[in-house]
Amino acid sequence: MKNLIVLTLLLFFFSGHTQKSKLTAEHYQNARKSFRQKMPDNSVAVLFSAPIRNLANDVDYIYHQDPNFFYLTGWHQPHSVLMIYKNAQTDSGGVYHEKIYVPERNDYMEMWNGKRYDLEEVKELGFDRVAERVDFKHDSQNLDRFDKVLMFEFKNDIRNQKTYVFRDNVRYKVDDPLDLFDLKATFREAINFPNDFNRLAYTAYQRIMQADEENFEAFRDEVAYLVNQDSLLMEDEIIRDFLKEPAQDFYNEAKMKTAFALRNYNFDIETLAGIMADLREIKTKNEIDLLKKAVAISVVGQIEVMKAMHPGMSEREIQGIHEFVYRKYGAADEGYPSIVGAGKNGCVLHYIENDEEDLHNQLVLMDLGAEYYGYTADVTRTIPANGVFSAEQKALYQIVYDSQEAAINASQEGNSFRSIYKLSYDIIAEGLQQLGIINEASEARKYYPHGLSHHIGLDVHDPGNYGNLEANMIITIEPGIYIPENSPCDPKWWNIGIRIEDDVLVTSEGPINLSAGAPRDWERIEALMKEESALKDFILPEINSLIQ
Ligand code: GLY
Ligand code: MN
Ligand code: MN
Repeated sequence: MKNLIVLTLLLFFFSGHTQKSKLTAEHYQNARKSFRQKMPDNSVAVLFSAPIRNLANDVDYIYHQDPNFFYLTGWHQPHSVLMIYKNAQTDSGGVYHEKIYVPERNDYMEMWNGKRYDLEEVKELGFDRVAERVDFKHDSQNLDRFDKVLMFEFKNDIRNQKTYVFRDNVRYKVDDPLDLFDLKATFREAINFPNDFNRLAYTAYQRIMQADEENFEAFRDEVAYLVNQDSLLMEDEIIRDFLKEPAQDFYNEAKMKTAFALRNYNFDIETLAGIMADLREIKTKNEIDLLKKAVAISVVGQIEVMKAMHPGMSEREIQGIHEFVYRKYGAADEGYPSIVGAGKNGCVLHYIENDEEDLHNQLVLMDLGAEYYGYTADVTRTIPANGVFSAEQKALYQIVYDSQEAAINASQEGNSFRSIYKLSYDIIAEGLQQLGIINEASEARKYYPHGLSHHIGLDVHDPGNYGNLEANMIITIEPGIYIPENSPCDPKWWNIGIRIEDDVLVTSEGPINLSAGAPRDWERIEALMKEESALKDFILPEINSLIQ
């Protein structure tokens, strides 16, 4: 019996939460106000918290809130829903524009997984209305009064979760009837979401509805592109007719047929992502402050590793130093799995095994970012394990550096993402040609196979429109050269992977490199690597001597 009790206790699931928000209720009220301004008339937006992910058996990954949900709420707990209404709603308490649904208190669950909140406490976070999640079941029943229900596409990757209930003082493990799985199922039914929903057909229908006389051909091209991805779309009569040579007034007829086909649906899975991209690509002052902190913490990690590194270290040990620094400064997490790759591992763009034990005299590519109160940095330095660049390493490094330097300087308001990428590419192509590694500029794509830049924020790859740069965007500038073994060039270049990545704030006075504190040029890197490390006296016992 005793064993049985122990087993039940051990089998109880584990799930911790990430950091709460550091920003004020007012910050999130403003975010929701800006969101509402962009909503179409008579629409409602329905956003769900992130699912809990299982690590192993009864242990879950540390919970990480969905960034869009967090952006609008600052709310860090699972099994929650947010509704925002374009037009004022009324109830007995008066007018409201938003309502958040959160899990009810449960002493037993809180004993295991930590505090849940009273509705009054959640209300202090600045929401017009706060309700228990059970109320979502009721409130979602009359969504057909809205012209549009804005939502993200269902991903169908949510586990049905268990909870515990007491009856007559006996504890039972049961399906949680109000977990995210059930809340989404309720919502799905409420909006009449088709079981055989086809995303491409949906998109084609949207384009047909948007088609006008002036841009008719452009919309037809878009629909033809969708059909190219799935030829079964041609079995849809409306899509097939829309792609035929248009007769006079044909597109009006196609539109009418489409509207008729869609008459039972008012959900919209395109507009919400667009609004979030518009909002999130421009950072507020509060967000800039948190991102500056996340970047500064990551910079200290790079600096400390530059001082501590020697060829006897392992990739994991290096990762550990960065991540220790992050925790030391109060960052709860990394914004993405840390990348520490020596030599050939540096040529794998998203290498995360970090299991090489001997760095030899190779270049070590370190792409890591602290996540500070939800906001993540994304900084890469590539340094020689032995503190000195070889001639080949230096020649390639200088090309990446020159490319990055030009792109950072060009990160000016009004310039396009495309133009700064092109600038960085041309410099790398020119450099590789001069070294005889390639013959034609177009071949550089083989050694510089990724983009130059992305927004950072609550996501390491934050949403945005990727048109022109605007003030208060924070973007990465991260060119690279990667020459894996057996590449068609002199073997002396093989197994060198280099990326230099900085986080740049675009302002009306020009770019500010927020991660400039971590040296980027080879002279300063070599000089810093000669400095004494704070970890020099951090010597642990030889482990085998401690194994009993
Ligand atoms: N660390 C992922 C990236 O640089 O985009
Ligand atoms: Mn990165
Ligand atoms: Mn990046």
